[in-house]
Amino acid sequence: MGFLPLLQVVLLAAAAAARAPAARAWGEEGHFMTCKIAEGFLTSEASAAVKGLLPEWANGELAAACSWPDAVRRQMPWSSSLHFADTPGDCKFSYARDCHGTKGEKDMCVVGGINNYTAALQDSSSPYNRTESLLFLSHFLGDIHQPMHCGRTADLGGNTIVVTWYNTTKTNLHKVWDEKVIETAMNRFYKDDRSAMIQAIKLNLTNEWSKEENQWAACYTRTTTCADKYAEESAELSCPAYVGAEQGSNLEDEYFFSALPVVQKRIAQGGVRLGAILNQIFSGKNNSSIQSS
Ligand SMILES: *[C@@H]1O[C@H](CO)[C@@H](O)[C@H](O)[C@H]1NC(C)=O
Ligand SMILES: *[C@@H]1O[C@H](CO)[C@@H](O)[C@H](O)[C@H]1NC(C)=O
Ligand SMILES: *[C@@H]1O[C@H](CO)[C@@H](O)[C@H](O)[C@H]1NC(C)=O
Ligand SMILES: *[C@@H]1O[C@H](CO)[C@@H](O)[C@H](O)[C@H]1NC(C)=O
Ligand SMILES: *[C@@H]1O[C@H](CO)[C@@H](O)[C@H](O)[C@H]1NC(C)=O
Ligand SMILES: *[C@@H]1O[C@H](CO)[C@@H](O)[C@H](O)[C@H]1NC(C)=O
Ligand SMILES: [Zn+2]
Repeated sequence: MGFLPLLQVVLLAAAAAARAPAARAWGEEGHFMTCKIAEGFLTSEASAAVKGLLPEWANGELAAACSWPDAVRRQMPWSSSLHFADTPGDCKFSYARDCHGTKGEKDMCVVGGINNYTAALQDSSSPYNRTESLLFLSHFLGDIHQPMHCGRTADLGGNTIVVTWYNTTKTNLHKVWDEKVIETAMNRFYKDDRSAMIQAIKLNLTNEWSKEENQWAACYTRTTTCADKYAEESAELSCPAYVGAEQGSNLEDEYFFSALPVVQKRIAQGGVRLGAILNQIFSGKNNSSIQSS
């Protein structure tokens, strides 16, 4: 391909990017933290298998590749609806009712995506690209824990609710949960050092949450998958997240301090659960509770 066509492709891509609606995912930081926490839980067997599947540019670090599905959304438009599972706003998630794409395509939501790529990685004869399956699965485990990814359909999970962050930044409610709370916390408490924030969350995992942590990854119900449960939790957390965040409002300390503990715990839960899932997939225990019944 000559220089000109390539340039045109780049310009077209840039124009598409400028028009694209707000990203619908934890930001880069949230995904990195979720995957970094998961890495810490991997058995040596699972860690080796993961490293073997990572693209070269990740340099052996799963966390470095966990935002890949956001980067390829425009190249893979079918994957777009797999990042979330919006709900009517009743604080509940129901697979049959809510797990579909924007045109009603069955299973095309974050829960369907997690089940899809878990099954694909467990099945050595799956035709799906295993690197992509790993990156999608790891990314979606992050997304499903962000409450606004199971927010209301009517406002696209908070994307159409315009708010101001600390009187200065115009943003929207979805982005507040994806990025702003994490950015502000990193800036105020961790000197903008991502690894310091990850360490603080990990410290809670060994102290504060050590008792409940074992249950996070467990899943006993026969009628739903574990991913249903994660979406149910997020849908429930999304309801209080809308309170005090009306269209046009200004959010500052009060909102920040109520959201931060939720954000930190959801990142921790996503990390612990991703670690458990990857261990089950890659440590030979393939008859896991994670798979759909
Ligand atoms: C499952 O993965 C394949 C391969 O990436 C994809 O084509 C399909 O749309 C996915 N379905 C769901 C529900 O995630
Ligand atoms: C699998 O997907 C990755 C990432 O998209 C790509 O770089 C690689 O070439 C693919 N592998 C195969 C065998 O298609
Ligand atoms: C934001 O603006 C409101 C109303 O003008 C004011 O009460 C509040 O102190 C401001 N907050 C900050 C962080 O500047
Ligand atoms: C640690 O746990 C406490 C109590 O649940 C919570 O308020 C705080 O936000 C957590 N901190 C981090 C860094 O996870
Ligand atoms: C389960 O895992 C074992 C070893 O990892 C493998 O040989 C077997 O084919 C797997 N079975 C299924 C149904 O995926
Ligand atoms: C594997 O799963 C099937 C059904 O899901 C169950 O009947 C069987 O007992 C399980 N096997 C093991 C070894 O856990
Ligand atoms: Zn996403």
